Amino acid sequence: MTQPQRVEHQSTDKGSVPIYTTAVVEQPWDKYTATDHEVWRTLFRRQRDMLVGRACREFLDCQDEMGISEANIPRFADLNALLEAKTGWTLIGVQGLLPELDFFEHLANRRFPVTWWIRRPEQLDYLSEPDLFHDLFGHVPLLMNPIFADYMQAYGQGGVKAQGIGPDALAQLTRLYWYTVEFGLIRTDEGLRIYGSGIVSSGGESRYCLESDAPNRLGFDLLRVMRTRYRIDTFQKTYFVIDSFEQLMSATLPDFVPYYEQLKSLPTIPAGTVLDTDLVITRGTGEGWATDADF
Ligand code: PHE
Ligand code: CO
Repeated sequence: MTQPQRVEHQSTDKGSVPIYTTAVVEQPWDKYTATDHEVWRTLFRRQRDMLVGRACREFLDCQDEMGISEANIPRFADLNALLEAKTGWTLIGVQGLLPELDFFEHLANRRFPVTWWIRRPEQLDYLSEPDLFHDLFGHVPLLMNPIFADYMQAYGQGGVKAQGIGPDALAQLTRLYWYTVEFGLIRTDEGLRIYGSGIVSSGGESRYCLESDAPNRLGFDLLRVMRTRYRIDTFQKTYFVIDSFEQLMSATLPDFVPYYEQLKSLPTIPAGTVLDTDLVITRGTGEGWATDADF
């Protein structure tokens, strides 16, 4: 019962992707094994130590406020009591990645899908799909932050709309999610800090995104981000840096329909490219970048 219920694999432009049942499932907390809890504990300890001084204060404080700790895999019901009171979000258990429209609809209704199963001990460093550690450790804390909580809902509403507009709009919106929710950096008084969930749940990338000379770090620019392709199988070539969650929220508040129109005449930008018009914080050396195509 600690194995996910995969339905089938589907071949897409991003490779073979597992498709799961879209049903909301009760978190089978009593069925987690000692090994499952040990995986949580190991990853929690390792990432928390790594993130002090690297993740933004909001992330660390929210994690503490929710009582997410190394003790054992948290119960969704316990977290929901706090989350519902603070920002009105509810965690729901799912088997894994959802079809885009289901995902958007959950977010639009302030429901955050969390994969209920956790990776195996031999997968501590890398997993090609989200598991409980990524979803819960990485995504859930900032749902306690009122501005970020609103951003996630607005993104879901925007996703439902983009789905009705077409594949290009959807791809552009997905790039925004990628470079903010998953791989975003934020400028603070103490220096650059991480807020993206894809980074905080990855040991290697937590260091690389801040300390490596290889990647570009560019100031956040909405349309620029929506044109930028990305890598799903390596560390990022470029990170976009926001100044505050307020900035992110106000940049994304307008109706995107005119933006999607405007973007029709603009080419996509490869993941590693720096433009003359970019707000360059650091220009990457590109060392160690894979040369094959990004999405
Ligand atoms: N304002 C966007 C729209 O009209 C919705 C959105 C909000 C998208 C926040 C992303 C993030 O489509
Ligand atoms: Co994620």
